[in-house]
Amino acid sequence: MNCFTTAWGEFELARFPEDPREQLRAWDAADEYLLRHLHEEAVPLDGAVTVLGDRWGALSTALASKAAGLTAVTDSYLASRAIAANLARNGLDPSAVAVRSTQDAPPSRVDVLLVRVPKSLALLEDQLHRLAPAVHEGTVVAGTGMVTEIHTSTLNLFERILGPTRTSLAVRKARLVHTAPAPDLARPANPWPLRYRLPDDVGALSGRQVANQAGVFCADRLDIGTRFFLQHLPEPTGAPRRVVDLGCGNGVVGTAAALADPRAELLFVDESFQAVASAEETFRTNLGPDRRAEFLVGDALADVPTASADLVLLNPPFHSHQATTDAIARRMFTGARRVLRPGGELRVVGNRHLGYHVTLRRLFGGCRTVAGSPKFTVLSATRR
Ligand SMILES: C[S@@+](CC[C@H](N)C(=O)[O-])C[C@H]1O[C@@H](n2cnc3c(N)ncnc32)[C@H](O)[C@@H]1O
Repeated sequence: MNCFTTAWGEFELARFPEDPREQLRAWDAADEYLLRHLHEEAVPLDGAVTVLGDRWGALSTALASKAAGLTAVTDSYLASRAIAANLARNGLDPSAVAVRSTQDAPPSRVDVLLVRVPKSLALLEDQLHRLAPAVHEGTVVAGTGMVTEIHTSTLNLFERILGPTRTSLAVRKARLVHTAPAPDLARPANPWPLRYRLPDDVGALSGRQVANQAGVFCADRLDIGTRFFLQHLPEPTGAPRRVVDLGCGNGVVGTAAALADPRAELLFVDESFQAVASAEETFRTNLGPDRRAEFLVGDALADVPTASADLVLLNPPFHSHQATTDAIARRMFTGARRVLRPGGELRVVGNRHLGYHVTLRRLFGGCRTVAGSPKFTVLSATRR
């Protein structure tokens, strides 16, 4: 836990879930810059304020007692939990911030729109489209991000969807985005969600349609690691079994498992609301309305009962800050060990260099390589 100093006071903040081994701060210079700007410019916060994409609740917590009608819109379950936990940690009323997911109806009016620029440009595009009808000529629109996160393409989105846009000077490697809303702007259509057909060499899913909400992992094409995984999924056993697609993204992996095994009952889990909505559409498009399945937004397997699954399929998150993603993969492996029944299998695909076999061997007491390519390995670990 760390102390976040703002013009409006000091706040104790932590990420969610708190990891004592990783004391990563729950805010950065971009959050500080935006709050300082609001204070220095005395931006009126007594109307309907919407914060889009608050990472760990720093913006929502700092503004909770200043803005009476504060709404936080997020695609991340972890962020929504962080907002609630940080409000509580600072003795703030949890109802001070109305937390909505990116799948919920957007607010009907926005007087101040604060955007923590997301990592995914597609998610920004989709959310600006969804919020645009609530923005009016007098809306103050301010975005913030680290300089590495704000590109010409980012500014173009604000410009095309909301109105004329400029950026501030960089301060401590953070930058602000200012947009003057132009309600009469001829906005292009929102291209999201995106639906496409899979290639013909991916087993049970060949030629099938996949649905992708904005921001979902590899939303416009099949990831090469996922493709390799689809070619090396376990064979059906002939017995009914409970299969978890962990970190399901658009749901291709679990949908393939369900198509290959009519007796499999699927649970799709992801921390992204956009991902779980995509997985549900992908599954229903390919398996119809009656096939049993569950769709859960959550942190790894935290909400899944112990010894309740026979197979966990996992393509763990990677790419972002190495320390964080290692921690998430570890949490997912540990969760899988807990939710698997004795004899149950965790099957994982990963980049060869990530060395997942070491962690799996330590956790499960063994690990088998099912398939390998120069880039990827598919590993299998059995719950004893
Ligand atoms: C590499 S993608 C895999 C997506 C899909 N299974 C595939 O193979 O195409 C990893 C997924 O893990 C999800 N994820 C990241 N952190 C998570 C967490 N703590 N709990 C659940 N899912 C998480 C991401 O949102 C992302 O959809």
